[in-house]
Amino acid sequence: MNNSIPFLDLVTPHQELKEELNEVFLKALSTAGFIGGPMVEEFERDFAAFCDAQYCVGVSNGTDALRFAMIAAGIKPGDTVVTVPNTFIATTEAISQAGARPDFVDIDERTYNMDPEKLREYLETQCYSEDGKLKNRKTGLTVTAVVPVHLYGQTADMDPILDLAERYNLIVIEDACQAHGAEYFSKKDNRLKKAGSMGLAAAFSFYPGKNLGACGEGGAVTTNDPEMARKMRMLRDHGQSKKYYHDVEGYNGRLDAIQAGFLSVKLKHLPTWTELRRDAASRYRQLFRCTSGIVLPHESPHAVAVYHLFVVRVQDREGLMKHLASAGIGTAIHYPIPLHLQAAYQHLGFGNGAYPVAEKVASEIVSLPMFAGLTAEQQNRVGERVCAFVSAESQTMAATV
Ligand SMILES: Cc1ncc(COP(=O)(O)O)c(C=O)c1O
Repeated sequence: MNNSIPFLDLVTPHQELKEELNEVFLKALSTAGFIGGPMVEEFERDFAAFCDAQYCVGVSNGTDALRFAMIAAGIKPGDTVVTVPNTFIATTEAISQAGARPDFVDIDERTYNMDPEKLREYLETQCYSEDGKLKNRKTGLTVTAVVPVHLYGQTADMDPILDLAERYNLIVIEDACQAHGAEYFSKKDNRLKKAGSMGLAAAFSFYPGKNLGACGEGGAVTTNDPEMARKMRMLRDHGQSKKYYHDVEGYNGRLDAIQAGFLSVKLKHLPTWTELRRDAASRYRQLFRCTSGIVLPHESPHAVAVYHLFVVRVQDREGLMKHLASAGIGTAIHYPIPLHLQAAYQHLGFGNGAYPVAEKVASEIVSLPMFAGLTAEQQNRVGERVCAFVSAESQTMAATV
């Protein structure tokens, strides 16, 4: 019997849903409705409702979702868009591909999300042009938007971010690619809000490993703004307002009908899967009570996290990963090098020490197995191994002091 524990088991849920997924496939074959049509429309309706948003526009992946949202929002060459350095590169690729320059603010050391205080400092230290535009002091580019990333399935602290955006007249685009169904308790409005319902628009990825994943590529943008929805529908379909009437140049960035059908099947299971992930996160917390040598994810009082990833921090991350690999336990790092230090962004001119919290966190994080079907027995084994390693490590450290 294979006793290994994968970082992510994608096979089992697809085996379990085989019949429902096959039905979608056969339906698509019988109608040859591969592009657009009722399967896409049904998914868009259901996903908009799931996110408490008025509109959902299905697109080809999360990167396109971000890019189309930015272009539709009017982000353009000469703009600067502020995000965090500890996200997947798609966030900043979309900013650059809209013609703007990515800029960063550091993260909160507990939640790993954008630190609103750092955003405030950033905004307060820029300057204004004569015509009242907020300009980046170093580059002279106009600061037009902020992209908070709901990393690992936990929403960023949106109340202060939205307040600052209003004060400085910034567009807010949520990167919700890891946060399907995550919620934020807004003190200001005294209610829970869904990821994807708070900014001008929000981008989701349906990459197979996401909490809601397609059987291939997929993405969506949600928004409450009808004009944004209209523009994004055009952008995903070569700028067409109707067939062969191209109001603008757009892209080939549609969501496949078959993928939309698969996503509709899976969306029905998502609330249960989320509960299973939350249960698994609680179980890990119990298991790791054994040791103080591990920093657990901090679920902020403002958030109901959906645990896309369960990310811990340890001193000897590489050692722990090796130790777990020798027991057949899969791990990963999300992400080892912050974006401002990536070769692709050398031209932005940031060096080591520019975003110290993101840099420190990146050197210590490790993602443990996390998926809806993770069993208690598997988690016990992960727990035993992690505790054994971390306790041995702290004894060695104590002996050498
Ligand atoms: C935070 C974040 N943003 C954007 C993306 C891009 O999504 P996709 O891979 O579907 O293009 C991802 C996906 O990995 C992501 O995790």
